[in-house]
Amino acid sequence: MLILGIETSCDDTSVAVLRIENDKPSVLSNIVSSQVKLHNEFGGVVPILAAREHERNLPVVLDEAMKVASLKFKDIDLIAVTSGPGLIMSLVKGVNFAKDLAQKNNKPIIGVNHMAGHIYSNWLSLPTTHYPLFPALCLTVSGGHTELVFMKNHGEYELIGKTLDDAAGEAFDKIARLIGLEYPGGPAIARTAMEFSISNSQFSIKLPRPMMYSKDLNFSFSGLKTSVLYLVRDLTVPLDSARSEIAHEAQEAIVDVLMHKTKKAIEMHQPKSVLLAGGVSANKLLREKIQTLHENVFIPPMEYTTDNAAMIAMAGYYEFKRLKFKSLKLLEADANWEIV
Ligand code: KG4
Ligand code: ZN
Repeated sequence: MLILGIETSCDDTSVAVLRIENDKPSVLSNIVSSQVKLHNEFGGVVPILAAREHERNLPVVLDEAMKVASLKFKDIDLIAVTSGPGLIMSLVKGVNFAKDLAQKNNKPIIGVNHMAGHIYSNWLSLPTTHYPLFPALCLTVSGGHTELVFMKNHGEYELIGKTLDDAAGEAFDKIARLIGLEYPGGPAIARTAMEFSISNSQFSIKLPRPMMYSKDLNFSFSGLKTSVLYLVRDLTVPLDSARSEIAHEAQEAIVDVLMHKTKKAIEMHQPKSVLLAGGVSANKLLREKIQTLHENVFIPPMEYTTDNAAMIAMAGYYEFKRLKFKSLKLLEADANWEIV
């Protein structure tokens, strides 16, 4: 089976071709056109610019994906497109483009939940004998979402914890901005944190771990951002000399909270495997720490951590198997589509 994946939920335009034989995927192409440079100037994603870029990029990225896969459009069996959650103007561009392709070429189409896509990035590079066992606990951490999802089987999700305000990636992005680092903030903070070591600590900066000890599995990150805001405002030394220490402590605080709640969820729900997913799963510290929580931890290969269409095609495959695809007419972008 050959699946064309299309992803435009935020600021990356991506098209991928996935071949699946006996449940085993091979990524034939996965083209990602990033808009980071464009949005960097504004310190974050500008929705109207993102939508305009998607419209411009989609045909080019599609051509490239077909060329790299050495296929013709008639070979494709299914189109899988992200239909939510995400920025509505961005989603609409991808969904309309995919619907148009499906109609003109008479292909079946399926709408994929972006967060389910992130979860399925864990299926992209494993032998079928090593797939995650259910029930699985998924920690999905991206720019827009921070969730603990209990997955009983393919397509069966229960949301057992989520952020009450900012997402973990959003916290990285906002804190980065406060300390003068570029967008996206996650990689910038991780890089800057590496310049710090405890032995050169000058300020003994300590940031809060919001809600770490609350009884539930929910998160809150906006207080952390506010703490950094006050810290920077009240600094008595130049920011340049404190930046790496703030970056280090902010990363430690975010990862501590994520790990603490994931550990608690494992104790409460006894999953057979633990999956990390979403753009923040690119974070090295998080990737290392989560491995210590359970004997069966899955982390996506680096190339599939941030937004890409290969993961959307993968999730689309399992949705298609469950026959939950919508007719062309009913498929619409839904900016607030919850995974459950
Ligand atoms: O999943 P994603 O590509 O887009 C959304 O669906 O939101 O996630 C993007 C988020 C951004 O907030 C970015 O700062 C964060 O992932 N991110 C990281 C790292 N790489 C990307 N956060 C921490 N450490 C990283 N290395
Ligand atoms: Zn994402």
